[in-house]
Amino acid sequence: MRILLTGGTGMLGVDLRRAMQAEGHVVDCPNRNDLDLSSGPSIDAFFLNVSADWIVNCAAYTKVDEAESEQYEANYLNAVAPFTLARHARRIGARILHLSTDFVFDGAKQRPYTESDEPNPIGNYGRSKLQGERLLQKENPDGVVVRTAWLFGAFGKCFPRTILSAFESGRQLRVVDDQVGSPTYTRDISEAITNLIGNNAPPGVYHIVNAGQASWRELAVETIFAHLLRSSHSSESRQEESELRARAEAAVLPIRTEDWPTKAQRPNYSVLCTDKYCSLGFERLPDWRDAVARFVSELQPLPA
Ligand SMILES: NC(=O)c1ccc[n+]([C@@H]2O[C@H](COP(=O)([O-])OP(=O)(O)OC[C@H]3O[C@@H](n4cnc5c(N)ncnc54)[C@H](OP(=O)(O)O)[C@@H]3O)[C@@H](O)[C@H]2O)c1
Repeated sequence: MRILLTGGTGMLGVDLRRAMQAEGHVVDCPNRNDLDLSSGPSIDAFFLNVSADWIVNCAAYTKVDEAESEQYEANYLNAVAPFTLARHARRIGARILHLSTDFVFDGAKQRPYTESDEPNPIGNYGRSKLQGERLLQKENPDGVVVRTAWLFGAFGKCFPRTILSAFESGRQLRVVDDQVGSPTYTRDISEAITNLIGNNAPPGVYHIVNAGQASWRELAVETIFAHLLRSSHSSESRQEESELRARAEAAVLPIRTEDWPTKAQRPNYSVLCTDKYCSLGFERLPDWRDAVARFVSELQPLPA
């Protein structure tokens, strides 16, 4: 299939492009100079001469805290641009798949959120993403919206990468332990999105994340543990593994959300349920711990 991928330079976009190409799809990735999604005229001009089977929108305004003050920019990229892409998709006869976020939920629930749970974002990033979902679906009822969460990958800034560099600098880490979510590896969700496209998924919203749940601190500890395990040269006995885990635990002090004030409020629980995706016949994504171990080895390949 011919796929037009926006945001192909972003953390998810790079892995997604590779995953789709590995399945034999032809992927066009316009950069910002060719297609500036913050400008309606730029989008309209670009689509004068485009053909595609799918449009996949990974471009977004993703700075959660800055979105509180840069509301216009966030709303344009996260709501107006997906709406405009949806209109062009309909016009050229392409399907559209758009990425959204767990931050559309308020965190009041204590069980994994399903697609039928009512969103209620508590920050402007989540509000802009929810508006984008709704405008896109209204304009193009054939559209697919994939909500994911807590992404990490080799091609962008992400929490596990920040944790590793802070750990390596020898600093004592303090990480929030009372926000729980679904850490997700960009490589794994890229395969899942490629499955949806390859199987012409029914329209609607899908939650796609790695299995399991974690707090930010648990994610930090697991990342450091995977790093220590990878760097350790001796044979990995159970005894050694538990020593490395204890070292990782000791490196990260748990703190509460109020001890780490941020401009934007975040949901304190935003685990996503992936049953709907699995009901299409696809396997559940691997556990997030397994994903963290693969991510760390992608960052730090063993010497040949
Ligand atoms: N990161 C997460 O933890 C997370 C969690 C849940 C959902 N999501 C969603 O997943 C999707 C991908 O996120 P990500 O983390 O991969 O994002 P990212 O790394 O911040 O990448 C954003 C992409 O959007 C492009 N972009 C920004 N402004 C643009 C503009 N005016 N015109 C054209 N392109 C523009 C960027 O291009 P440049 O390279 O030119 O800047 C980049 O390719 C987004 O929809 C995001 O909301 C992310």
